[in-house]
Amino acid sequence: MSELEWWQTAVIYQIYPRSFQDSTSDGIGDLPGITRRLDYLVDLGIDAIWISPFYPSPMADFGYDVADYTDVDPIFGTLTDFDELLATAHHLGLKVIIDIVPNHTSDQHRWFLESRSSRDNPKRDWYVWRDPMPDGSPPNNWLSAFGGGAWEWDETTGQFYLHTFVREQPDLNWRNPDVVEAMHDVYRFWLDRGVDGFRIDVAHRIMKDPDLRDNPPKPGADGTFKSMGAYETQHHIHDMGHPDVHDAYRDLRAVLDSYDPPRVTIGEVHIFDWDEWVRYYGADLDGMHLPGNFTLLYVPWDAGAVRTRVDELEGILPDGAWPNYVLGNHDEPRLATRFGPERARLAAMLLLTLRGTPTLYYGDELGMTEVTIAPEDQQDPWALREPELGRDGCRTPMQWDASGSAGFSDADRASLWLPLTPDQATVNVKVLDQSPTSILTLYRRLLALRRGMSALHQGTYSPIESAADGVFAFERAEGAQQVCVVLNFGDQAVRFVHECVVGAEPLLSTTLRRPNIDGAAVELAANEGLILRLST
Ligand code: GLC
Repeated sequence: MSELEWWQTAVIYQIYPRSFQDSTSDGIGDLPGITRRLDYLVDLGIDAIWISPFYPSPMADFGYDVADYTDVDPIFGTLTDFDELLATAHHLGLKVIIDIVPNHTSDQHRWFLESRSSRDNPKRDWYVWRDPMPDGSPPNNWLSAFGGGAWEWDETTGQFYLHTFVREQPDLNWRNPDVVEAMHDVYRFWLDRGVDGFRIDVAHRIMKDPDLRDNPPKPGADGTFKSMGAYETQHHIHDMGHPDVHDAYRDLRAVLDSYDPPRVTIGEVHIFDWDEWVRYYGADLDGMHLPGNFTLLYVPWDAGAVRTRVDELEGILPDGAWPNYVLGNHDEPRLATRFGPERARLAAMLLLTLRGTPTLYYGDELGMTEVTIAPEDQQDPWALREPELGRDGCRTPMQWDASGSAGFSDADRASLWLPLTPDQATVNVKVLDQSPTSILTLYRRLLALRRGMSALHQGTYSPIESAADGVFAFERAEGAQQVCVVLNFGDQAVRFVHECVVGAEPLLSTTLRRPNIDGAAVELAANEGLILRLST
């Protein structure tokens, strides 16, 4: 096997900076807080962190509304704090990936303030402005992903502007070469500071139909994506993913490739048509390194369905393209709530044994659950429009210990920006670390095993045909090292019988007990997963 890049063998850990560690006692996390906690991540067995946006922002979408791409919001610290974070991370051997939001800025970004100041401002065309229809209505039927229409009327200049998200997030016009140049300068700014890569927010959305045609209606939801309310009543074929999006990412790749050592691009590409999704790698693998693969987030929790998704992905990837998997992030209900505590352990084993780069979401290693936020306490702008779709519940503070504010902050519990989980006294790093059977211990063991075994971090993947109901089993192999992963998705114990079990050495069970191997058979409890080293 050829030498792999660091981002292929790495495990990435996503940090939502408001919620990881507060160092200023204001109840909100910050960059110096993250720096203080990097040791924990090294110890956990993480290779790279991805930090959600920390740029100056009016926080209409908690930082995904960027008012200045080349600075740090005072809530999170300063550029010097960022440099310290980066230097400390590098010193500890951790890579740092930052979040870039190219589709839109804040309406308080100076580019937009200029753009909206008059029709003949030089930056007018940096955003998507259009005249109303003859009856005064918006230029087309596009909807905002966060509810309502995607066009906002601007009284001063008598035109509408486009906003795919909230109205405080106007969309940039990526067909204007000045915008492209300005954004490439943003990437260079951070590359020059030494960041190791970018997570690109809603990467597929930057190019829309140039003629701004209406989206066709779509009766009923199609089940491939979580419910997004009214937004799902259209086929989103014209408001995102126009084919020239791939030119944009090829151009960006050229910018990154001019840096040494190589940096990575991970795209948030919410596309569930494999043929369309795979194009984001670029026709000659000259696009993104890792278009985010979100299929496992929405697949029914069933051995057959999960295997189908994995096999489809393995089947569609061109030679040299590297897979990746995600099971949780700051936009999705917490994994432990979606799956329950036992399945959350199985999900951890699945994520950390598949071929490809996994991304973990902070707190999932503790089994943190979704917090129910009272309607009057909701903060997420989406929740303010569509309360049942709010994302605050998965963004609550990291729970380090059983103290009043969980070791997250010196502020009192009532002043934390979001509440802790009700079981924080037991679900926290300190307590779980003391238990040899906790989910945190399982994550540590999985991460250590994955790092230590080339079969797991870089080996081939081959599914194993199995007669056992509800079991997804596969083999990972690299050279002479062969590992078999057996995952029981069912709520019943099963007996898995396969020749690969003969003489195999059990390496790890999700229950952290030692399994019973009997010839070619092994017993798995309900929702148990096992990693076996095969005898060769
Ligand atoms: C992405 C982010 C999400 C944000 C949206 C708008 O989907 O993950 O948190 O609200 O883009 O920037």
